[in-house]
Amino acid sequence: MSMQTPSRLSIENAPILKTKVPGPKSMEFLDIQDTLETSSRSYTNFFKFAIDYGKGSTLVDVDGNVFIDWFGGVSVLNLGHGHPAVMQAIRTQLEKITHITEVPTEARIRYLKTLNSVLPGKMKDNSKIMMTVTGADACEAAVSLARFNSKKPTIISFTGSYHGIAGGIVGATSNYHYRDYAGFSSQNYVYAPYPYPYRFSKKTKKEDISKEVVERIEDMIGDPYSGIPPVGGIIVEPIQGEGGYIVPPDDFLPMLRETCDNHSIPLIIDEVQSGIGRTGKMWASEYLNVTPDIMCISKSIGGGIPISSVVYRKDFDQVPKAFHLGTYRGNPLGLAAGAAILDVVKDEKFLERVRSKGRYLLDRFQEIKDQTEIVGDVRGRGYMAAAEIVNSRNDKTPGTELTGNIREALFRKGLLMHTCGHYGNAMRFMAPLTIEDDLLDKGLSIFEETIRKTEVRS
Ligand SMILES: Cc1ncc(COP(=O)(O)O)c(C=O)c1O
Repeated sequence: MSMQTPSRLSIENAPILKTKVPGPKSMEFLDIQDTLETSSRSYTNFFKFAIDYGKGSTLVDVDGNVFIDWFGGVSVLNLGHGHPAVMQAIRTQLEKITHITEVPTEARIRYLKTLNSVLPGKMKDNSKIMMTVTGADACEAAVSLARFNSKKPTIISFTGSYHGIAGGIVGATSNYHYRDYAGFSSQNYVYAPYPYPYRFSKKTKKEDISKEVVERIEDMIGDPYSGIPPVGGIIVEPIQGEGGYIVPPDDFLPMLRETCDNHSIPLIIDEVQSGIGRTGKMWASEYLNVTPDIMCISKSIGGGIPISSVVYRKDFDQVPKAFHLGTYRGNPLGLAAGAAILDVVKDEKFLERVRSKGRYLLDRFQEIKDQTEIVGDVRGRGYMAAAEIVNSRNDKTPGTELTGNIREALFRKGLLMHTCGHYGNAMRFMAPLTIEDDLLDKGLSIFEETIRKTEVRS
């Protein structure tokens, strides 16, 4: 673990349950929230408790129950709750200034320099950085940059993709519910099949999946009768996040890069969930030596303070003043946190630990799969790992209801673990990268026991 990460951040002996979950005080908080806050909330349907504080990879609710956190605020807390280097950076900044639009501060300059120093491949020293606020905002700006530079309207996204929910970018997010119930449109977005090895057509040999997908994309781009207006960008997650922690075959991203090069189409790589060390490299695209033209960064970069960034080729910078303008571009607290987080994560020893512990995690998931019938697939890279739950291994019917039951049972036992996937049937690991070995093993035991019990009941 890095010099800057103490050997123990979390509370010892978690989980510690003092009351039934949710406890009485949590219930009071939840009642008030239900009365006053929008019904559009999602996560409070899954994790019914109220939080007092977090420490490392543990969370303490208002009733004093201690949970193991494999959720990380949806993959935001790669260094866990209250990492000393991050807290120190935020505290120092807090004493200076908390908001000043665009004007340089020490925190901003440090962030720019540190981010530049860790950019993948040819991006380092050769890119411009645009400050944005959320993941959706970064992806929205990335798509605008692609269209502006290519002067073409259509963006190819993928089945299973998630790039955020907001008026424009929701078009790149594949689940139509997010558009239709909000009256949004998906104009000028089309979807290519994501190479999802576990559920790709049985007719295609595993080694031909990427080729088939890329040929489909070539048709979309090149065929004047494809019905698609000219393609001005491709946006892709190097490992799909919300779609199910889907790891595409290794030849997919390089082939996509080649297609983009051949047609002068900007390749946008969305590292919002897969970046900042989650996979055991700073960026997931580094595994395949693919350099994006435009890259989206968010979630873990701010350590819980909403900041995001778009990094793009210098020659794409002929943009007019006030292109994608906003008041909150680069909050100083978030930028101070961001530079501190990058400094910890960039340490090769820190990343190597994520890679080796990630292999261990996947091996343990594989053992659980081998011994049970309801885990259909396990996959991942580093600490971005998931187990896909099925009703039947033979016909792979998605075990959506089972997965919801597993999440609920885990929560009641003191382990926060969330789902993802096309059918909401993948259990994913989003714990802080700093999680201690004992909490990893304790969580795995609870997970294994819960899968076995769920299988017996189903
Ligand atoms: C890959 C990816 N892109 C974009 C987003 C959108 O981020 P936000 O929720 O901050 O708008 C997400 C959120 O989960 C994501 O996983």
